[in-house]
Amino acid sequence: MRLKSVVSSLLLHPLQPGDTIGILGGGQLGRMLALAAAQLGLKTHIYAPEEDSPAFDVATRITQASYEDEEALRVFAESVDVVTYEFENIPLKTAQFVERLNRLHPGAKALSATQDRLIEKQTIAALGLATAPFKAVDQRDDLVKAIEVLGTPSILKTRCFGYDGKGQVMIRAADEAKEAYASLQGAPAILEGFVPFTREISVVAVRAANGAFAAYDVCENIHAHHILSETRLPAAITPATHQKALNMAQSLADALDYVGVLAVEMFVTQDENGAEALIINEMAPRVHNSGHWTLEGAKTSQFEQHIRAICGWPLGSCKRLGTVMMRNLIGVDVDQWQALLQNPDNHLHLYGKSEARQGRKMGHVTQVMAL
Ligand SMILES: Nc1ncnc2c1ncn2[C@@H]1O[C@H](COP(=O)(O)OP(=O)(O)O)[C@@H](O)[C@H]1O
Ligand SMILES: [Mg+2]
Repeated sequence: MRLKSVVSSLLLHPLQPGDTIGILGGGQLGRMLALAAAQLGLKTHIYAPEEDSPAFDVATRITQASYEDEEALRVFAESVDVVTYEFENIPLKTAQFVERLNRLHPGAKALSATQDRLIEKQTIAALGLATAPFKAVDQRDDLVKAIEVLGTPSILKTRCFGYDGKGQVMIRAADEAKEAYASLQGAPAILEGFVPFTREISVVAVRAANGAFAAYDVCENIHAHHILSETRLPAAITPATHQKALNMAQSLADALDYVGVLAVEMFVTQDENGAEALIINEMAPRVHNSGHWTLEGAKTSQFEQHIRAICGWPLGSCKRLGTVMMRNLIGVDVDQWQALLQNPDNHLHLYGKSEARQGRKMGHVTQVMAL
């Protein structure tokens, strides 16, 4: 480790082959990042609390410790050349602690703006970009007032720690407020007006340390039980909407001084004349499930782009290579692995998780049909 306590910029000191990337979080995203790093001659050190972390199988070095363990974090941060994270629910304090010891990309600023739904919406709105209408809810009275303003249906969401629809309650009538509020057990929340969208899309983009920006084609996402089920490309949106979505992602990445891959989930709405508009739902400061198709469907995968960006290296091409269908294997879906391998057009990815719990992402399968 060349830096010790002096945090230098990627532009002055890009990583060299043989250097080590530290990754906070040990899920499948960390696993695929570590594989991309290895391809570029880099080592990885994964830090995660769970013993059976999927990324541990493919890393150079692992630390199994809690995100509150400052001694373990210090040893980790000082053993690597740059640190990144593979999920946004690591405590902000952990990210800030690591950022004082080494380079952290994306930085703690990007993490704080994306892990709290209130700050996230305020950040988006401050750039003049559209979000669902929202109100902060810190106590039950706030919820009653918010429902008066936003109406029903509306969705109550915890500000932090939500994913795959967890920490969310749909409110269909004002008299459901009491029960909905109680279900969050006092967690700070926001109420969001329901957006009558026609499609859900996302932009997976990457920004380099020198400000260079690249984005993949917009993808269309289909959810089942609040979990991403399928991603398809091209998205059935107009070229103008497509360009607008990419521009919105670039504004966000620039505003956050972002380095790495950023995913932006959006709703597409249509007025009575069929004109499309875009509303930003949420951002993820990391590689994203809706970008898994890029492993085979784009010139450079999202995982390689993230590694290149956080190493201070030039970005690759985001060009799409065909028509794409990516399907998640959730829970017992993974039992289909043998049948899926019978189709030679399927690219099968399994994350090495031993227990196929309900709702757990076990793998995915991608098909790319040449253009
Ligand atoms: N304001 C909204 N209006 C309509 N549907 C919504 C709204 N917010 C969320 N949803 C639906 O719920 C899904 C999950 O919500 P999201 O905010 O993306 O949380 P998560 O962090 O769980 O992905 C979205 O993909 C969308 O289908
Ligand atoms: Mg989401």
